[in-house]
Amino acid sequence: MTTTIYNTDCIKGMADKLAENSVDLVVTSIPFGALFMYSGKNEDIGNNHDDAEFMDWSNFGLHMRFWTEQLLRVMKPGCNVCIHVQQLLKYKNQHGYMGRRDFRGAVINIMERGGFEWKGEVAIPKNPQAMAQRMNLHCLLFITGKKNARQLAMAMNDYVLIFQKPGECANPVPAIRDEKINPAGWLTTEDWIKWARGVWDDVHETDVLDGYRSARESDQEKHVCPLQLEVIRRCMLLYSNPGELVLDPFMGIGSVAFVAVQNKRNAVGFELKESYYQQCLANIAKAERDLLDDAPLLNLCKESEK
Ligand SMILES: C[S@@+](CC[C@H](N)C(=O)[O-])C[C@H]1O[C@@H](n2cnc3c(N)ncnc32)[C@H](O)[C@@H]1O
Repeated sequence: MTTTIYNTDCIKGMADKLAENSVDLVVTSIPFGALFMYSGKNEDIGNNHDDAEFMDWSNFGLHMRFWTEQLLRVMKPGCNVCIHVQQLLKYKNQHGYMGRRDFRGAVINIMERGGFEWKGEVAIPKNPQAMAQRMNLHCLLFITGKKNARQLAMAMNDYVLIFQKPGECANPVPAIRDEKINPAGWLTTEDWIKWARGVWDDVHETDVLDGYRSARESDQEKHVCPLQLEVIRRCMLLYSNPGELVLDPFMGIGSVAFVAVQNKRNAVGFELKESYYQQCLANIAKAERDLLDDAPLLNLCKESEK
């Protein structure tokens, strides 16, 4: 098994480093504009002003058009892209009223325009009490309900959106055989009975890799939100076979590569920010140490744009 990670912009990185029709599965979380700041770099997709919308003409939409163009090129036909998204908020001072921004819908739109087919989705609920405290969200607070319950609104879910590159799949994930689904990928019928529900409410919010706070470059910086390992594992077992290539274009601290090593998939990924990239290296090395006897070869490629 090999894990190859690059400290560079994923759009240029995919163009330079990945061959056409070479990737079996993508699992990733897309950075969203103007909310979290990961780095000061122009290529950081999270640094775009997207206003209330995520339209073609916004910088975010423009970046994403180049991104989907590369993604479509590198994916194998009939293979899947799993994108984790958060629904976003509107703020009174910024957007005119307190409410919601449909990032989920925007990503579906961007991906379909980029040539992918939208195949499905799963909602991942979050704890409303924790969210109310962490974000001081008025729409969730008792005090709001006591004043005017019309202002109450439910907690936003996260989603994993599932897309597919059109075309004949040359390497299907094996179909149902006896009590096992995808025996090569180690997915059982029991797993599928649980996971086929469109809501995964058994995922723990804290099931994430360590190191996401210390990987910040300054205390002022917001930290990256790592994707829950169990969400990644389910996507990987569902949509890939062992030994196949899994890509994460926006690696953060390397959660997707970590799960790929654990589940004997090859991994490739890009991360723009040096300190997160360093944390990726540490996390992948840990996954390898945990495997011990069967350690895959970690093939580190570090590229800076300078
Ligand atoms: C939502 S976070 C990913 C978190 C990741 N799933 C994890 O579990 O750690 C998005 C990441 O994309 C990175 N990023 C933003 N623009 C990028 C680009 N153009 N190329 C590569 N990485 C980029 C950010 O630095 C950030 O670490």
